[in-house]
Amino acid sequence: MKMVVQGEARLTGEVEISSSKNAVLPVLAATLLTEEKVVLRKVPFIEDVKVIKFLLKELGVEVKEDKKDLNIIGQARYNHPPYEMVKKIRASFLLMGPVLATKGLVRVSLPGGCAIGTRPIDLHLKGFKALGAQFTFSGGDIIARVNKLKGTHIYLDFPSVGATENIMMAAALASGTTYIENAALEPEIVDLANFINSMGGKISGAGTNIIRIEGVKELKGTEYSCIPDRIEAGTFMLAAAATGGDVLINNVIPEHVKAITAKLIETGVEVEERGSQIRVKGQKKINPVYIKTMPYPGFPTDMQAQFMAYLSCADGSSIITESVFENRFMHVQELMRMGASIKIEGKTAIIKGVSKLHGTEVIATDLRAGAALLIAGMMAQGSTTVTNSYHINRGYENVVEKLRALGADIKEV
Ligand code: EPZ
Repeated sequence: MKMVVQGEARLTGEVEISSSKNAVLPVLAATLLTEEKVVLRKVPFIEDVKVIKFLLKELGVEVKEDKKDLNIIGQARYNHPPYEMVKKIRASFLLMGPVLATKGLVRVSLPGGCAIGTRPIDLHLKGFKALGAQFTFSGGDIIARVNKLKGTHIYLDFPSVGATENIMMAAALASGTTYIENAALEPEIVDLANFINSMGGKISGAGTNIIRIEGVKELKGTEYSCIPDRIEAGTFMLAAAATGGDVLINNVIPEHVKAITAKLIETGVEVEERGSQIRVKGQKKINPVYIKTMPYPGFPTDMQAQFMAYLSCADGSSIITESVFENRFMHVQELMRMGASIKIEGKTAIIKGVSKLHGTEVIATDLRAGAALLIAGMMAQGSTTVTNSYHINRGYENVVEKLRALGADIKEV
């Protein structure tokens, strides 16, 4: 699949943000913690959700679509999601915690996911081990066994989002109480805790660096809708700024995009917060800035590529340091093909602003790099073709329609 976008666009109008991919994926995994019916509302139609739905069905769970609602009934009858799908997205590894907690046995292939550096799972396994699981490895799979998970204290060397979520799900049905220390603070963690609590879970402290999970005997069915996607919102904020546009973003929680707003204002953009709306008005001159990606509430790594595209035409040199992933600069050479002037020194990129980018054929290497290339394509002179655009559809619902509605000349071929 390819996306072809014409340059020198100016985005204006309104866009509605979908439910958060990174909240919905762990919540879908957590539906395995109860055999009763769970109704999830406004689930985004994106590739990664399709994969997790497929894996739930493979595990023997009933998943019924009802427009944008999902009715999910049942727990895992089997304990081994199929290899080829687990390889497709890293989030599939989140099935391990719930299946281990409900079946005492789970076999999962080493996770796949974006090509943004090796993404170990040592912290996930450290948590499961601390809860009493034993591991064996065979043929690239991890097999974890336990009679009954037992609550304990777990310290995370790094505030890993996935590890915090996986351990939280496993501990929800353990006997006794678990404390996760140096836990991730992301809003998606809070959403997952709220979801599990809506099923009768007893989780407190989510959103702080110590999360307390009191294990319960069983969890009930529930109805739930996840928070809006702060990274989709941030991406549209950047697209508005980068095209000197004027866009009203609906269904956003301003607090969740504070770091993006602050940085955009530093570049000279006008950002107006109005309840669950944010208005972004770009301007011609872009001030260069310094950015360092950090775990939440710092500047999000998932917005690094999009901001780099925007800063490639700033009035001077910007510096971006990627401190969360060790190889998340795959988009740099693609931006340079469009005329950007970027130098990488280890984890730091120095972006020397140029007056114009030029459209050409570029390759999306992961979903956020793909989004960055769409932004660069709308800024550039001429037409840009983004190949491997399926990466973009993994995390952005109806992105072509949403951009066209804002005035972009874009099509998927
Ligand atoms: C989640 O990935 C998100 N994915 C990512 O979004 C996001 O970039 C990332 O968190 C950081 O915010 C989902 O929520 C589905 P981590 P995750 O565990 O959980 C290291 C997107 O674009 N680490 O916080 O995989 C790891 O190598 C995606 O939507 C370990 O060392 O992120 C990485 O350098 C991309 N050992 C860092 O921590 C572990 O056991 C952050 O990883 C786990 C992680």
